[in-house]
Amino acid sequence: MRVLTTFPALAALLLSTAAAQTFPNQFGPYALKVTSDDATINGKYLYACHSGAAIEQLCIGEKGEYAAASGSYYFNSSDWSEEVDGSKTGVLIWNLPLQDAHASSALTFNYSPASNVVLAYFIPGDQNTVTVGFDAEDKLFVAAYVDDTVTPGGSKAFYHWEVCNTQFSGYRYQALAWVTIGTPINESCRGANVTREAI
Ligand SMILES: *[C@@H]1O[C@H](CO)[C@@H](O)[C@H](O)[C@H]1NC(C)=O
Ligand SMILES: *[C@@H]1O[C@H](CO)[C@@H](O)[C@H](O)[C@H]1NC(C)=O
Ligand SMILES: *[C@@H]1O[C@H](CO)[C@@H](O)[C@H](O)[C@H]1NC(C)=O
Repeated sequence: MRVLTTFPALAALLLSTAAAQTFPNQFGPYALKVTSDDATINGKYLYACHSGAAIEQLCIGEKGEYAAASGSYYFNSSDWSEEVDGSKTGVLIWNLPLQDAHASSALTFNYSPASNVVLAYFIPGDQNTVTVGFDAEDKLFVAAYVDDTVTPGGSKAFYHWEVCNTQFSGYRYQALAWVTIGTPINESCRGANVTREAI
């Protein structure tokens, strides 16, 4: 697994992207721990793993197995962010190391029209982010809007995390994913939850 790769050529572009901040209030750093009924992943931690230029997935690892920076995450929110069940929503952040700085990268979902399994990855900036929060038990949830018969509606907390064998732009990992609804069509997926721990 490749972690903490830097991309000097992208630095200028990424830093200019990071200048427009929609979610300026930052909390953390946190480690992200996986809990699951599946003993092979229960108690493991998530580490950013390289999946293309400035793209990282969240790969499974033992505590302390990889560089601390690859397992340090932040939660960014804003004053106007919606609350779900009393928890502020916002974006999950990982800092992509650049030569003399970093690019704040937010969690994004990659949907396939052919699957109910969604890949989760970080990319610099706060475009196309998935809206998340941490509940009273520090569990990571996705805030989604469900009832389109009601305006303005309001979001609910969902916990559809899975750890799956993924293949994303040629990189194969056991990594964090999401199931939209139902049972994941991919047999490699194991239901999981993700809990933050202050570090
Ligand atoms: C997260 O917050 C930090 C601190 O304000 C900021 O530097 C960074 O750009 C923010 N990231 C995003 C994606 O909004
Ligand atoms: C499903 O699992 C296989 C390997 O078990 C993997 O190659 C594939 O990319 C996975 N698909 C998704 C959508 O996760
Ligand atoms: C994850 O946590 C939620 C909320 O506590 C719970 O309803 C769900 O069953 C958990 N999922 C797994 C796979 O443990």
